Amino acid sequence: MTEQILTEILDHTLLIRLNRPDKKNALTGAMYNGICDAFDQLEQDSQLRVAVITGTRDCFTAGNDLVDFLDSPGIGGDSPVGRFLRTLPALSKPLVAAVNGAAVGVGTTLLLHCDLVYAAPGAKFQMPFANLGLCPEAGSSLLLPQMVGYRKAAQLLMLCERFGADDAVELGIVNEVLAEKDYLEHALTKAGQLAALPPNSIRTTKQLLRKSNTEQLRTVMELEQQYFTDMLQGAEAKEAFNAFLEKRKPDFSRFR
Ligand code: COA
Repeated sequence: MTEQILTEILDHTLLIRLNRPDKKNALTGAMYNGICDAFDQLEQDSQLRVAVITGTRDCFTAGNDLVDFLDSPGIGGDSPVGRFLRTLPALSKPLVAAVNGAAVGVGTTLLLHCDLVYAAPGAKFQMPFANLGLCPEAGSSLLLPQMVGYRKAAQLLMLCERFGADDAVELGIVNEVLAEKDYLEHALTKAGQLAALPPNSIRTTKQLLRKSNTEQLRTVMELEQQYFTDMLQGAEAKEAFNAFLEKRKPDFSRFR
């Protein structure tokens, strides 16, 4: 497993750390595979009852690595992102997130699949897919409007507005905001509480909570993956990515 994904077993909890601080924990193919390996470990090891996913102290993740995206096969099929997007919603055991700093792109959309999310006051969320000439992914075009309502979802997915930890609680994306020194410990404590409960009851509860959405989510994710993969090769995305790498504002004025 890549050293950019660190795992640790704490009693019955698997702690997964995104660990690429020099690039704001931007996710490469190897990192997606590392997270999926950890998810597989969670599912297969009967001693493990819950996972906590976190970043480094001041950053959750800046989302997909934009350099990786430039020559990426897309987000479907056998690609590492495709594997991640299949594994995440299929987890039978609970996933808890502990977030501080930037949670951008998939850094926010993966939270929509978590069962509990705790944040520090410095957490900042954004889903800038439209800014990048792309479209929503990870089921966010379904899960976000369900969670926050259409109007807010349009604000976050079309205008790509950033929002903070308190807003995220109000929107129902985050359960609670804790002091920076406490947010990870708190997430681990909650994970410990889940781990102490009867495991079959927790798995069945999770399954039932999600059941009514499962088919629709699969359909929406397939559609998102097709559009996203096509758009990744498109001129709008090329302009957005080059602008990011050249540290300038993108210019979309020539597109129709
Ligand atoms: N992919 C690749 N590299 C990234 C990255 C990403 N998604 N996000 C940040 N980095 C790199 C920067 O290029 C920079 O590298 P450098 O030091 O070699 O120049 C380094 O990480 C630090 O980033 P920087 O922008 O200087 O940090 P910041 O604290 O000012 O801002 C963010 C942090 C997350 C707000 C900002 O980096 C950002 O907006 N990143 C892009 C997020 C994004 O669009 N993600 C994709 C969503 S689909």
